[in-house]
Amino acid sequence: MTTPGAGESESGDGGAVPPRLDPEALVSAAASSVAASATLAELDEAQTALLGKRSALVTARQAIATLEPSARPEAGQLLNEARGRIEALVADRRRQLQGAQRTARLQADRLDLTEVVAPPRRGRPHLVQRTRDELEDVFVGMGFVIAEGPEAETDWYNFEALNMPPAHPARGMWDTLYLELGATETVLLRTHTSPVQIRLMQSQPPPIFAVMPGTCYRRDTPDARHIPTFHQIEGLVVDRGISFADLAGTIETFTGAYFGPDIHARLRPAYFPFTEPSAEYEITCTICKGAGCRTCSQTGWIELGGCGMVDPAVFGAVGLDPEEWTGFAFGFGIDRCAQMRHEIPDMRILLENDVRVLRQV
Ligand code: FA5
Repeated sequence: MTTPGAGESESGDGGAVPPRLDPEALVSAAASSVAASATLAELDEAQTALLGKRSALVTARQAIATLEPSARPEAGQLLNEARGRIEALVADRRRQLQGAQRTARLQADRLDLTEVVAPPRRGRPHLVQRTRDELEDVFVGMGFVIAEGPEAETDWYNFEALNMPPAHPARGMWDTLYLELGATETVLLRTHTSPVQIRLMQSQPPPIFAVMPGTCYRRDTPDARHIPTFHQIEGLVVDRGISFADLAGTIETFTGAYFGPDIHARLRPAYFPFTEPSAEYEITCTICKGAGCRTCSQTGWIELGGCGMVDPAVFGAVGLDPEEWTGFAFGFGIDRCAQMRHEIPDMRILLENDVRVLRQV
């Protein structure tokens, strides 16, 4: 388009159009500026600059007055068309930018329902706790009830009532941790669960069929079969006419129920001041299947606990008549049972709490 105007006569070039009245130039400049607007805010600015009061378009419209009257209508129409095209360019770009903005927002808000998120890892009781629960279940299934006693004990319950008066040499079987409470060496961390036998017989009359699980403490040097804080489950049966055969049968039933039919067990004569006769309960070492290894000190057998017929002196300490009442008792190591059942060569790993180990058992 050519727009005749004042510039024509001034330049005298016979057709040059003053830029401010060149609608095509306005539209193409507007197209570049609209395309260069990368955000809606930039587009708003461009719109004001292109169509606002101080825009080149408005200046061009004012310049119409300088044209020949006959040329004015066409120039006005062309500028109107140019405005329409610029408005269309702005509207198109606005739709484009709004669309892009919406897409970006949707992308940011997107919920990926196909994503596989690993479920939180569940914790579970420590192997020793689970073993304690399983042992309790076995004995409850055999008709025993569960009882408990304190971990801080008096010398009387831990030793004296169990037929070990002060300075009795058998006290040396348990390397004891004493507490600084009361008179010297009167309160201690129990070295076994046997004191709970005494508490139970004091608290209820026979017949008694009970197991008593709990934590015990000894100044033992840690090795493959020993740790200083360990656990025992005590058993006590008191009734009329109880014999060693009942004890042996109970232990045999327990062994089958907890370890299964393939494990060999034996009772070996032993000595405990609170039982007479006494025995040690052993099973074939599950680590070496009896061949001999570091865990069983090359013997092929592992001691799980002690047992025997309740000594008359113990009945005497709690005021039960040994002529009327008979009974048996046992004390098994819970950690030792777990060790053998799960074939753990070294008990110390139970205390290290390495989750890679604990997850396997
Ligand atoms: C006793 O503690 C007796 N009170 C058992 C008893 C009860 C005999 C009733 C007769 C009648 P002993 O010291 O042997 O006995 O321990 C019994 C079991 O506890 C051991 O066979 C072993 O399985 C476990 N045990 C003992 N010391 C430790 C230790 N340091 N670490 C892990 N387990 C242990």
